[in-house]
Amino acid sequence: MAPHSKDGHDMHAAAATNIQPAGFPIKYTKLFIDGEFVDAISGKTFQSLNPSTGELLASVAEADVADVDKAVKAARKAFEEGPWPRLSGYERGRILHKFADLLEQNEDELAHLETLDNGKPLFNSKYMDVVTGVKCIRMIAGWADKVTGQTFKLDGPYQGISVYEPYGVIGAIIPWNFPIIMFIVKTASSLAAGNSIVVKPAEQTPLTALYMAALAKQAGVPNGALNVVPGFGPIAGASIASHMDIDKVGFIGSTQVGRLIMEAAAKSNLKPVSLELGGKSPLVICEDADLDTAVEIANGSLFFNMGQCCTAGGRTFVQESIYEAFVNKAIEKAKKIVIGDPFKAGVEHGPQVDEKQFKKTLDYIESGKAEGARLLTGGHSVGKQGYFIEPTIFSDVKDDMKIATDEIFGPVMSILKFKTLDELIKRANDSKYGLVASILTKDIDVAHKFARSLRVGTVWINCYHVYDQSVPFGGYKMSGFGRENGLASLLSHMQLKSIIYPLKDSPWH
Ligand code: NAI
Ligand code: MG
Repeated sequence: MAPHSKDGHDMHAAAATNIQPAGFPIKYTKLFIDGEFVDAISGKTFQSLNPSTGELLASVAEADVADVDKAVKAARKAFEEGPWPRLSGYERGRILHKFADLLEQNEDELAHLETLDNGKPLFNSKYMDVVTGVKCIRMIAGWADKVTGQTFKLDGPYQGISVYEPYGVIGAIIPWNFPIIMFIVKTASSLAAGNSIVVKPAEQTPLTALYMAALAKQAGVPNGALNVVPGFGPIAGASIASHMDIDKVGFIGSTQVGRLIMEAAAKSNLKPVSLELGGKSPLVICEDADLDTAVEIANGSLFFNMGQCCTAGGRTFVQESIYEAFVNKAIEKAKKIVIGDPFKAGVEHGPQVDEKQFKKTLDYIESGKAEGARLLTGGHSVGKQGYFIEPTIFSDVKDDMKIATDEIFGPVMSILKFKTLDELIKRANDSKYGLVASILTKDIDVAHKFARSLRVGTVWINCYHVYDQSVPFGGYKMSGFGRENGLASLLSHMQLKSIIYPLKDSPWH
């Protein structure tokens, strides 16, 4: 039987190219500009696929340079003439809280859409991505009316004040690994600060951004303050990075493209950029760590989200005396991971996001074998359709092998052996990246020495993948700069202005 919408329409007929999951039609596939869903000026569309099957999920309007320009004009008008930047922080916060309420009220549909478009297990979409996104909005909404400047008594008959002002129009280019969270991380801070924003979601996963834009409108975000322009990186993305009327650009994605964003910003209007890029993060397991807990943490550090995390524990360093025992238990654990249809209860491991990531991961597995690492488990694709890859573990990995230096972004654990802490710290820091690091040890002195020695933005001690909307997050070195989350994120979407005036006839001058 064909599924029917609430008003009785046959949705198969209505959505010949937009295959819907049971109960949830795909509602939004056009560009969201100036508060309306519109076709691309060129009329072009691109295909978003379901990575579990490789089949077409939706044809989505494809933004190019002219559409980005149209969105920027709408954003500029909303900033210069519209109510949004003129509302009090309190009022903006109230609207953002309402947006968070609407996300909660629609969490099933939103999570469903994400699992269709990205392939991550439904449990994760709902209880991690949507929940994290909602918390992030509420945290920033709470800050919106609490940002204050300072006053200064100058060295002379003058007084100064500093005030925070929005930049104007923010551009955001986001990736496909956590589409809901990345969209929110960028929009919540931009909007709370009073900016307008133009967001380009990744071409692999455009659907949840469009859905959330509709909810933001319903919550009261005015037309033009938020615009979403799905499309390809080198066209829509590049035109955001080089646009002369965008005041700041936030990018989350590969280090390679991060460099292009900076170049484009430098060559256009010198807009400031924030970059949240890749990593090859060390997870260090010391000999005094509880072995079962260490295996559990290592497993999650790498295999969570099918290895598609900028923070994945890409280098698992294990101390010599527990190396064999750890490796054996890690294999057992990886073999128990349930792979399959991400909509099915109990499934922990879905497909990689697309064919490019699937092939890239399989290529790295081949390179690990070719360079002499020991393949202990996994190493193959799974099934005949979709982009599934087995959780894979290599041991005997050497520091200069590609699987130890490059960001794989797939379910491939690389285990390396170390002897002493000092040796380990040098090797852990010997990477162009500096996103996160973790150490598992009972020795507080070792933990603190490690935490202060690692040139990374976040260090976890006896844990991994612990994030919070209030804790700043971002990279050192080629993992980027700028901080998401917390007050730091809100302030990074504001500029600081100083105003100075004479203190005439004041008793204090
Ligand atoms: P990517 O960096 O190409 O894509 C991220 C975003 O940048 C997407 O929205 C894309 O459309 C856009 N983009 C691409 N080229 C652009 C350009 N020239 N100008 C402006 N925007 C552009 O990453 P991709 O190709 O999806 O994945 C490649 C690798 O990047 C992954 O295997 C992984 O290693 C890394 N990556 C890291 C992420 C992170 O969270 N740090 C997220 C996604 C990918
Ligand atoms: Mg997709």
